[in-house]
Amino acid sequence: MIRPRATTLALGAAAAFTINLAQATSDYRIVEVYNSSNFFQEFDFFDQPDPTNGFVEYVNATTANVEGLAGFTEGGVYLGVDYTSQTTTGRKSTRVSSKKAFTGGLFIADIAHMPAGGSRNTDSCGIWPAYWMFGPNWPLGGEIDILEGVNTQESNSITLHTGEGCSMSNKGSLGSTKLVQPDCQGNIGCAQETASTENYGAGFNRQGGGVYALEWTDSAISAWFFPRNSSLTAQLTASGSSSGRSTSHGLSAPDTSTFGQPLATFVGGSNCSLSKHFEDHNIVFDTTFCGDWAGKIWSNDSTCSALAAKCEDYVGANPEKFSDAYWLVKEIRIYQKQDGSNASRRRAVGFSA
Ligand SMILES: *[C@@H]1O[C@H](CO)[C@@H](O)[C@H](O)[C@H]1NC(C)=O
Ligand SMILES: *[C@@H]1O[C@H](CO)[C@@H](O)[C@H](O)[C@H]1NC(C)=O
Ligand SMILES: *[C@@H]1O[C@H](CO)[C@@H](O)[C@H](O)[C@H]1NC(C)=O
Ligand SMILES: *[C@@H]1O[C@H](CO)[C@@H](O)[C@H](O)[C@H]1NC(C)=O
Ligand SMILES: *[C@@H]1O[C@H](CO)[C@@H](O)[C@H](O)[C@H]1NC(C)=O
Ligand SMILES: *[C@@H]1O[C@H](CO)[C@@H](O)[C@H](O)[C@H]1NC(C)=O
Repeated sequence: MIRPRATTLALGAAAAFTINLAQATSDYRIVEVYNSSNFFQEFDFFDQPDPTNGFVEYVNATTANVEGLAGFTEGGVYLGVDYTSQTTTGRKSTRVSSKKAFTGGLFIADIAHMPAGGSRNTDSCGIWPAYWMFGPNWPLGGEIDILEGVNTQESNSITLHTGEGCSMSNKGSLGSTKLVQPDCQGNIGCAQETASTENYGAGFNRQGGGVYALEWTDSAISAWFFPRNSSLTAQLTASGSSSGRSTSHGLSAPDTSTFGQPLATFVGGSNCSLSKHFEDHNIVFDTTFCGDWAGKIWSNDSTCSALAAKCEDYVGANPEKFSDAYWLVKEIRIYQKQDGSNASRRRAVGFSA
């Protein structure tokens, strides 16, 4: 149920709001739901050369449809790759981005399957999947990599990229998560390496995936992962609600103070103004191969480099290894605040709820 709106919303940063503080345990309001009913209306296919130099040929919507690289399956949205043809020029794959852009909010993604090479991460050589978002004039508008990794990686790396002058603290992240380095500038960015093997790749898929929740406010960017069988997954998703496991929540406002400690949190403070470094992000799902990350560290990975001298040779010659290299996205819910803080800024889109 959606809480009645007590306020009038004017678009733009200077909008004035009133809010009933007594009820403001969570002032998130649903602004978008993406699921199989509207996904392909709300996301565009990107069919340009991969900016990360992957061994990939991103296809357009028509080709994706005709060749079965994208569509619907098991109540979700399937975004896959070609796993039948050998190639010397780049494996066909899909990359989509949301038409709408967001500044701040709470992004609840129910993902049932992510690209992997099979039932073990040691079979994922060459694959570089990412669920992420980024703003204009990269890296000035910022980038948030929510779920990403390469090759035989066992758990998720959550990373931000920005322009100059943004250094992050990870105060509040799970103790097992490691901040690789605090400066988010440019290509390297500031990564937090998580420890659980349930939150990425084969381990993620084995238990049916789950929910990645990303909260982006003016003070911090935080990510949580709830596995398929957790009660929060039931509470936060349509599949949970319809299975009767959800108490009442439906599309009503989630309260991140009940989420527990984040897998990773990036706190801005005086060393990084989030409102200056992050804005107008489009949401992206893609699967690329080799390139600036998976390809660059191929020779450092003893499992992968034993398969072929070069990442491209392996990926090009072994299509059958990539039948599990697909995303199955059940739903993305986006909530934003209405308390007048900049985290609730939202450009040029009206309420759909
Ligand atoms: C998608 O979400 C909308 C809004 O919550 C809902 O009305 C619709 O039934 C959903 N579609 C599917 C296929 O779940
Ligand atoms: C999609 O890509 C195919 C293959 O490159 C091309 O023939 C076709 O014209 C493209 N369609 C659109 C609508 O761009
Ligand atoms: C969820 O499933 C995992 C195995 O995939 C199991 O270890 C865990 O106990 C389960 N948790 C709940 C709350 O059922
Ligand atoms: C800012 O960075 C400096 C130098 O790394 C550090 O000593 C300080 O604690 C940081 N301040 C905040 C608020 O994170
Ligand atoms: C990979 O190997 C190269 C050359 O041996 C080395 O310079 C580089 O630091 C290694 N990279 C990683 C991520 O281990
Ligand atoms: C919102 O952004 C404006 C312009 O960047 C800034 O002046 C103002 O202090 C911000 N307000 C809050 C609540 O952060």
